[in-house]
Amino acid sequence: MTTPRRTAIIAGNWKMHYGPKEAASFTWEILPELGKLVRSSPHILSILCPPSISLTAVREVLDADPSPRLELGAQNMHFEDKGAFTGEIAPLMVRELCSTVILGHSERRAYFHESDELVNKKMLAALYHGLRPIVCVGENEQQHETGETEQVIRRQVHLSLANITASGNQARRVVIAYEPIWAIGTGKAATVEGAGSVIAFIRQQYSTMYGEEAASAIRILYGGSVTSANIAEFMAHPDIDGALVGGASLKPDFVEIVRKTIEVIL
Ligand code: PGA
Repeated sequence: MTTPRRTAIIAGNWKMHYGPKEAASFTWEILPELGKLVRSSPHILSILCPPSISLTAVREVLDADPSPRLELGAQNMHFEDKGAFTGEIAPLMVRELCSTVILGHSERRAYFHESDELVNKKMLAALYHGLRPIVCVGENEQQHETGETEQVIRRQVHLSLANITASGNQARRVVIAYEPIWAIGTGKAATVEGAGSVIAFIRQQYSTMYGEEAASAIRILYGGSVTSANIAEFMAHPDIDGALVGGASLKPDFVEIVRKTIEVIL
């Protein structure tokens, strides 16, 4: 008997696009179709991740016509509960509006110097406050070309995802996004086999940390130039549980990505 498929996640990372007004009007634009799609399948979860200043505006739109399995996520947060951290947002602030938070995106790591240790603190704070962290890992082009991918990924997984408490469901709630940096925003997606084998490797690493049961429960997404034209191939791979979508999540193509995902997982 084959194991049942894990619920797929299609998350849209809007990055620094769409202030409150544009975010609300784009959400209104995609909501009727997106809402219908997520209601049509219990095996899909879709998460919109606008900039933090637009979270309230998108929350209001989603609340006007609530759909199960259509959720809101932040793109980053601080690990402290509160305090003198100008410009930051705290886990409980995120929790008021969101189910999810993206952490350790390669742009945060590269431009804002986020280390694995910092990502780990944020991830533990997210779990503690009942949020679902989507922790991003991925190698850069040079590491990819010199065959260092597994080494880089192993280090990121072991450090960014360390110290999750063994009790409760925390180790099963984590979502990991494998995003090779050379594939982000370049239109040059990884091959399905390439992404699938790194994702299988991530799952194996996670299993050495938290056991086989947790490793087989967690969702591991692929990210990097995902569009409605390539999502079906990625979703056909049994190790790939969904996608973290950047550029294409800013357009109605995002709805098509969700539609094609449902077609494959049905
Ligand atoms: P992209 O971005 O889909 O535009 O390549 C993915 C990401 O950075 O999450």
